[in-house]
Amino acid sequence: MIELKTDLFGFVLDPPLILASGILDQTARTMERIANNEVGGIVTKSIGEEPREGHPNPTVVELENGLLNAMGLPNPGIEDFKTELDELRQSVERKPIIGSVFASDPEGFAELAQNMVEHGSDMIELNLSCPHAEGYGASIASDDEMMREVISRVKEKIEKPILTKLPPSTEIARKAALAEESGSDGIVCINTVRAMTINFETQEPILGNKIGGYSGKAIKPIGLRCVFEVYREVDIPIIGCGGINTGRDALEYMLAGASALQIGTVFHTRGKKSPNKIAQEMKELMEKEKIEDLKELIAEAHK
Ligand SMILES: Cc1cc2nc3c(=O)[nH]c(=O)nc-3n(C[C@H](O)[C@H](O)[C@H](O)COP(=O)(O)O)c2cc1C
Repeated sequence: MIELKTDLFGFVLDPPLILASGILDQTARTMERIANNEVGGIVTKSIGEEPREGHPNPTVVELENGLLNAMGLPNPGIEDFKTELDELRQSVERKPIIGSVFASDPEGFAELAQNMVEHGSDMIELNLSCPHAEGYGASIASDDEMMREVISRVKEKIEKPILTKLPPSTEIARKAALAEESGSDGIVCINTVRAMTINFETQEPILGNKIGGYSGKAIKPIGLRCVFEVYREVDIPIIGCGGINTGRDALEYMLAGASALQIGTVFHTRGKKSPNKIAQEMKELMEKEKIEDLKELIAEAHK
């Protein structure tokens, strides 16, 4: 019997596929629907202290091998989102809910994390990686001191596990080690890759914000490289994310060193049953290679 189970801070993820932040996760209803479709856990949309409209339209463009988005962290703000979290907690009992938060300073992150935990989040994901929101996300991770303070302040405030979501920079391994040293319990890599597209006819950038983040198939080699490099530097669990579209992609991330995975853009290409499809493909491949347990695969590419 092939096992797709993996452990993340005492939660059994079966399958090891978690809904990534920002995709179908702004309301309890959409999150519940995904939770009931065989994901191992759910990350909420990144939530800030105040409601935020985000960037002007267009905010998402479909490219040949993925999506380019510059949403600009639109969200209802923590006060409003608490109701969604309460509702979600009631309907999703056993799967971990991971509250994703963003702020511009350590105190903001700590307050948000505490609110998320009080309303049922089992873990907190610090979004230090959004590539298109000035003063938030990747701007925080680019400053070592700020990053250290954010993580330590959140660590003082809550007792639940903290995941730090990093941008795919060439410094990702060093940043991951810094996150571990500051108290992070796990690393999530990667967020979208800073990118743009230009319309030749109108001679203008297509996104309202001009620059956005690329996700989906095209970024898988970048995500794999990041997980591989981070694995060599840290001893805490790594959650791989970026371009996972098939069971084979998922298993490649595990070979690189991920012990759990997040999926986002695939819901756009393969629909809401994507987790079931990917899990089935993982099982088929493992069966073919006579691998019974995912543990046999994790970080094998390092040997
Ligand atoms: C439309 C859209 C919105 C996103 N919003 C967030 C967000 O609010 N917070 C966050 O940390 N990541 C966000 N992401 C990034 C995803 O969580 C994920 O890291 C990235 O898309 C790579 O995974 P994928 O290729 O499986 O989609 C967003 C991605 C997309 C496509």
